[in-house]
Amino acid sequence: MTIRTRTLGTTGPHVSALGLGCMGMSALYGDADRAESVATVHAALEAGVTLLDTGDFYAMGHNEMLIGEALRTAPAALREKALLSVKFGALRDPDGNWSGYDGRPAAVKNFAAYSLQRLGVDHIDVYRIARLDPDVPIEETVGAIGELIEKGYVRHVGLSEVGADTIRRAAATAPIADLQIEYSLISRGIEREILPTTRELGIGITAYGVLSRGLISGHFSQDRQLAANDFRAHSPRFQGENLRHNLTLVEALRKIAEQKGVTVAQIAIAWVLSRGEDIVPLVGARTRDRLGEALGAADVTLDDADLAAIEQAVPADAAAGDRYPAAQMAHLDSEH
Ligand SMILES: NC(=O)c1ccc[n+]([C@@H]2O[C@H](COP(=O)([O-])OP(=O)(O)OC[C@H]3O[C@@H](n4cnc5c(N)ncnc54)[C@H](OP(=O)(O)O)[C@@H]3O)[C@@H](O)[C@H]2O)c1
Repeated sequence: MTIRTRTLGTTGPHVSALGLGCMGMSALYGDADRAESVATVHAALEAGVTLLDTGDFYAMGHNEMLIGEALRTAPAALREKALLSVKFGALRDPDGNWSGYDGRPAAVKNFAAYSLQRLGVDHIDVYRIARLDPDVPIEETVGAIGELIEKGYVRHVGLSEVGADTIRRAAATAPIADLQIEYSLISRGIEREILPTTRELGIGITAYGVLSRGLISGHFSQDRQLAANDFRAHSPRFQGENLRHNLTLVEALRKIAEQKGVTVAQIAIAWVLSRGEDIVPLVGARTRDRLGEALGAADVTLDDADLAAIEQAVPADAAAGDRYPAAQMAHLDSEH
């Protein structure tokens, strides 16, 4: 397996072409095993993955502390290669409820101060607000990250789930390394306006949900039981008829994967990798087994015939159901 590198935009860092998204190790997809999560981060670093993605609100600091532990216990040579992408801004309460976003400059600096402590690092490589705060102009939020950069606490500004207008306003304020946004065979909305905009402005993409949260991994099934606090228990794409329809797309993909001697997850990740050198997929592996499968995608080459077959099996907009429940869709500047 060969993990090459890609550059996040024209001003961002060189990172492994696949990043590790650590969210599922703490939240949203049911219970995870802490020791296995730490071992997965170590295995990813050993395999050449340098980009680790987290958010301060993933189980209210739990995910950052887990990454902090993984970095502390990794060999120094690997720890030094790790680049941290951190999201902030989502507000929680002690019950875990979500209560909006805060992008005010004082809040940005406060969030960063706590994240640095929990992660046990002296700087964050890419720092971004998870969702646009509708009450705070993006220029102010990005400006505050700019001040953190001047002081050495942050290296680059990133964005998350924002649309073309906000991307332009942010890019007029400071150099933007990347936009983090959902992109997969069944979430192709960014192809219309957002991807042309980031390409025009020299901004990279860190793509999340490349397996649509496991839906198109080839491992999900109709009878899978989900805990009430699992995101997928409330996600439109995982409900009843929608799920049944979406899994037929996966079976179509499985035929192509089998012909190539690879897995469904590898085809799905390789497809995102094939969309352009400016795109870095984040894989949400939380066990070493899943990680090994995901990284195997780096060695899958899709030729024109493969891409045409994939397009036929899973046409753009083929998925049934929105990518988030309605209340969360409303927070997505990228969907307005
Ligand atoms: N900016 C944003 O708004 C935003 C939103 C969501 C996520 N993210 C970031 O993006 C990262 C990735 O997102 P995601 O977790 O939704 O992505 P994903 O890779 O689409 O989904 C991960 C899920 O797929 C399942 N899976 C099955 N086979 C897998 C394989 N071979 N490799 C990896 N996963 C496999 C895993 O379930 P099992 O473990 O049960 O097998 C896991 O729960 C997150 O960790 C987070 O850092 C950002």
